[in-house]
Amino acid sequence: MVMTGALAGYGTEVARSGRTSGAPERPGAQEWVPDELGPEPLAAGIHACRGCELYRDATQGVPGDGPLGAPLMLVGEQPGDQEDRQGLPFVGPAGRLLDRALGDAGIDPGEVYRTNAVKHFRFDPGRAGKRIHKGPGRVHVAACWPWLVAELELVRPHGVVVLGATAGGAVFGASFRVGASRGRPLDWPDAAGTTWRPSWVVASTHPSAVLRSRQRDQDYAALVADLEVAASLLAQAS
Ligand code: URA
Ligand code: SF4
Repeated sequence: MVMTGALAGYGTEVARSGRTSGAPERPGAQEWVPDELGPEPLAAGIHACRGCELYRDATQGVPGDGPLGAPLMLVGEQPGDQEDRQGLPFVGPAGRLLDRALGDAGIDPGEVYRTNAVKHFRFDPGRAGKRIHKGPGRVHVAACWPWLVAELELVRPHGVVVLGATAGGAVFGASFRVGASRGRPLDWPDAAGTTWRPSWVVASTHPSAVLRSRQRDQDYAALVADLEVAASLLAQAS
């Protein structure tokens, strides 16, 4: 199932299980992906997954969520603190901003499937039990990629929006830059090795980056504008 090619994203890099001294074992998620796809088997597989070391410190794996057959799939980075506790994607502050942006772009938030490039929360321990978000590395994205392949096959969305550099890199590879690629339809790379091929991908910034931004209104408007591009592509298709 794992394919590589010139255009392959991080996701298609074969997870490096070759261990050098003390490095964590990362067999990749594939062996936990069930043969029969369905929301429950997929969630059970993600909860059981030991494809990389991130399961160890997280509360639980967070599968994608939304209607099967949703015309649009949104791919974020990894679960945040709230998502890790609740077991659902985009239920914290970034998710609230995302829902507002979807609404402002004319997309019904109830009709999209939301997921992440990586299914377990990676963090550093902070003071007083606080957990400090630490983005996943390329090795984690590569290890977790089989889950995104399975979710695409399960949901079969018409289009995909990648939110931020991690999700963009998962699909398009290390050379991907949000700024250079955002807001226009891109082709799903053949080398991504998925069984379901969406008709287009639109890249945008991550809602968490908007929350952190000093020019929040401007960045929020740019996120909405990118989602409007997705909305018009969806309208063309129906
Ligand atoms: N940020 C993400 O990328 N995903 C979530 O689910 C929540 C915050
Ligand atoms: Fe498996 Fe992905 Fe979790 Fe790693 S982050 S254990 S590959 S589900």
